[in-house]
Amino acid sequence: MRSMENTRVLITGAGVRIGRATASAFAKAGARVVIHYNSSEAEAHSLLGELATISPGHECVKADLMQAAERGKLIASLVADGRALNCLVNNASVYRRCPLTHVIAESLRADYEINFVAPFLLMRDFARYCEEGNIINLLDQRVATVDPSASTYGFAKKSLRDATEAAAVQWAPRIRVNAVAPGVVLPPPGADPAKIERIIRLIPMARNSAEEEIAEACLFLARAETITGQVLYVDGGLHLVGPDLAEPDHADYSL
Ligand SMILES: NC(=O)c1ccc[n+]([C@@H]2O[C@H](COP(=O)([O-])OP(=O)(O)OC[C@H]3O[C@@H](n4cnc5c(N)ncnc54)[C@H](OP(=O)(O)O)[C@@H]3O)[C@@H](O)[C@H]2O)c1
Repeated sequence: MRSMENTRVLITGAGVRIGRATASAFAKAGARVVIHYNSSEAEAHSLLGELATISPGHECVKADLMQAAERGKLIASLVADGRALNCLVNNASVYRRCPLTHVIAESLRADYEINFVAPFLLMRDFARYCEEGNIINLLDQRVATVDPSASTYGFAKKSLRDATEAAAVQWAPRIRVNAVAPGVVLPPPGADPAKIERIIRLIPMARNSAEEEIAEACLFLARAETITGQVLYVDGGLHLVGPDLAEPDHADYSL
């Protein structure tokens, strides 16, 4: 297993929620963490303070990944002083549900931009600027099923799954590329608890997954030196039963 002691990892969207738990797990394992954030500046800097009590060498970096100029210089700027970057965790995302008949070109582009274009271009830049290492993409258990209501978010995550497998083949043995596919972990802010309860009842393990479990899955993939091109489902078996999560066009899509 790869030691995390000499690993410097960029985790996108690391200020809050799953990204924050992942940053803590990597720091506790000995890695130096680059905490990426966009709007969660206060949370990112409070996390930096927490990680500094574990070990030195962590840092924060701000970039709006929807802006081509900002995301285009992110990885290049992190290696410009000659320091290595050996791991990328593509965690940043925006989850939107939308009836297929309501999709417009702008929302389609926006969902692809943040959930596929941005993480894919960061993967490409990692391969261009970093000598070796590994990439972990955060997907969603929906990549194994069909949830029409997850709409363009789901399509983009499926594209990122395909890019994970293609890059794993093309960049081996220099760079490993894997993915973690969570199920129900942290509901989006404002989600209807009754809807979440209904989905949890469909999960074979009858419970949601903790963000720490997602973080541990990322850490495992970062350490496992011969695993590449894998999607690790951390979802209590939800993807195996392929539940019908679709809602009719006229339903409440607030989840
Ligand atoms: N939560 C779950 O139950 C669940 C289930 C299935 C899959 N997942 C996947 O797991 C990952 C983490 O989930 P999460 O719920 O913790 O994520 P999240 O809270 O929805 O989003 C994570 C971060 O993405 C960043 N982000 C969004 N737009 C951005 C932009 N334009 N530029 C830069 N950063 C941007 C935000 O950073 P700032 O706050 O700094 O702006 C945000 O905090 C995601 O890839 C998600 O699809 C989560």
